[in-house]
Amino acid sequence: MRKLLVTGGAGFIGSNFVHFVVANSDVDVVVLDKLTYAGNAASLAGLPEDRVRLVVGDVADACLVDALVREVDAVVHYAAESHNDNSLDDPSPFVETNLVGTFRLLEAARAHDVRYHHISTDEVYGDLDLDDPARFTEETPYNPSSPYSSTKAGSDLLVRAWVRSFGLRATISNCSNNYGPYQHVEKFIPRQITNVLDGIEPKLYGDGRNVRDWIHADDHSSAVWTVLQHGRIGETYLIGADGEQSNKEVVEAILRLMGQPSDAYEHVRDRPGHDLRYAIDSTRLRTELGWRPRYTDFEAGLSATIDWYRSNEEWWRPSKAATEHKYAAVEAVPAVQPR
Ligand code: NAD
Ligand code: DAU
Repeated sequence: MRKLLVTGGAGFIGSNFVHFVVANSDVDVVVLDKLTYAGNAASLAGLPEDRVRLVVGDVADACLVDALVREVDAVVHYAAESHNDNSLDDPSPFVETNLVGTFRLLEAARAHDVRYHHISTDEVYGDLDLDDPARFTEETPYNPSSPYSSTKAGSDLLVRAWVRSFGLRATISNCSNNYGPYQHVEKFIPRQITNVLDGIEPKLYGDGRNVRDWIHADDHSSAVWTVLQHGRIGETYLIGADGEQSNKEVVEAILRLMGQPSDAYEHVRDRPGHDLRYAIDSTRLRTELGWRPRYTDFEAGLSATIDWYRSNEEWWRPSKAATEHKYAAVEAVPAVQPR
């Protein structure tokens, strides 16, 4: 493999992956990114220009996608509308990017017989009860809850059909919640870190008992790189690092690590349809492909992430006020739970 197309490579996880590929291989990277509110060319700053090229454009643009896919050896498709709260406000870009965009990429990969890796999420499996010892596996039935997760589930199914019907050389990975540098301040962990830096109390949805299974973005990158090189065609791999934490535990850890009283947070309106718990069993990835996470101490990874946001205010500051303004409007409305 000499050249890779990374869609969404100016977003959070995509940019971390581009940094990973440059640091760990000789492969050149073409990034295709629309630079939506969530994309930031600054996340690629400092990377060698002779190895990384940013093309600003839409994954749903069939001509552009065809032209880019034909010049590479493999595609890793990260581009998506990724935020559940936004999908409750307006689902339409989720359908366009996550479903139509994936369809365009699959058609181009099919036309040019290019290896394709699809980045998906554990949310396609729905949620687990808080007291259920079970975790998601590759065999768990799909049961998405939100417009975001249902469009991701639909895109996974398109990939499976293109493998079966057209022999596309594709793999899928479904990862749990990522944290680390370059994550947009709309997301839970960076929102609370930057709130504390701004002297605002962290905001916990509902009672804060919901559980997420946290993995550092670097570990997600190493897992995707492993699947891209050694994964079995047509196979799905779940990616997780045994990082289950309740939202309340995460907020308390952030406050403690930032020298604040651990109860200095505020409960706000819950997310409608809020998934209770996600948990990944990554046995297949570990036993079949030998992958292991590097960040096994969540608090150490969180502490490094806090340091990154402290040192990179110029990266997140331009998005902060608009993001909080949007949340303030939503959080002022009384909660109505649809289920
Ligand atoms: P993000 O929102 O930070 O980044 C998405 C990127 O895609 C942005 O750079 C944006 O500009 C770009 N993009 C959006 N629409 C586009 C379009 N039509 N054409 C081209 N580019 C477009 O998202 P993220 O958190 O980095 O997530 C990346 C991928 O990983 C997504 O597919 C998401 O479903 C998946 N994922 C995320 C997590 C997580 O915890 N964040 C966990 C598992 C899987
Ligand atoms: O599980 C993987 C998924 O993780 C990805 O597919 C999504 O792209 C990614 O956004 C993430 O989805 P979540 O909805 O779990 O992430 P979010 O950061 O929005 O919220 C994490 C948890 O924190 C969730 O239970 C909601 C809660 N929350 C969130 C915000 C923004 C709060 O309590 N307060 C907040 O201010």
